[in-house]
Amino acid sequence: MAIRRILTVDNAADTAVLKQVSTPVEGVDDELRALMDDMLETMYAAPGIGLAAVQIGVPKRVIVMDLGSGEEKAPRYFVNPEILTTSEDTLPYEEGCLSIPEYYDEVERPAKVTLRYLNYHGEQIEEEAEGLFAVCIQHEMDHLEGVLFIDHLSRLRRDRAITKVKKVMRAA
Ligand code: NI
Repeated sequence: MAIRRILTVDNAADTAVLKQVSTPVEGVDDELRALMDDMLETMYAAPGIGLAAVQIGVPKRVIVMDLGSGEEKAPRYFVNPEILTTSEDTLPYEEGCLSIPEYYDEVERPAKVTLRYLNYHGEQIEEEAEGLFAVCIQHEMDHLEGVLFIDHLSRLRRDRAITKVKKVMRAA
């Protein structure tokens, strides 16, 4: 496993990659599992709770997540995820993103979604997500379309976010 560099929106080269639409994966094999292992290690090191492959410069439809609380790790893997249904009711949530370090803002998304995806072993899973899980999977699936959470905000707030990230990255 290896920690990879996370692309950030303070520079044009990284931003261009982050705006790419990720391509579906053919199947889950050892090479893909090695990518998912690297993604998980990178996410834990950041630290963060979700990461899409494009954020380490690999535009494939792969997401890792860990919403576990406390010491116990609870890694989850989503390959070629699809949203089958979304609820009418919405949930506002203060989101952040490893590609937009130290900026947080409120986004409103459907409160519940039904998902279909392949897991770490290539098995097809269907399940319902709500609460933080629903927020996080929709945020990560946006990455697969080249969409960042700040794209849901007003232009003013988006500009403010990028200015903040430039400052944070300069100081790092
Ligand atoms: Ni993100």
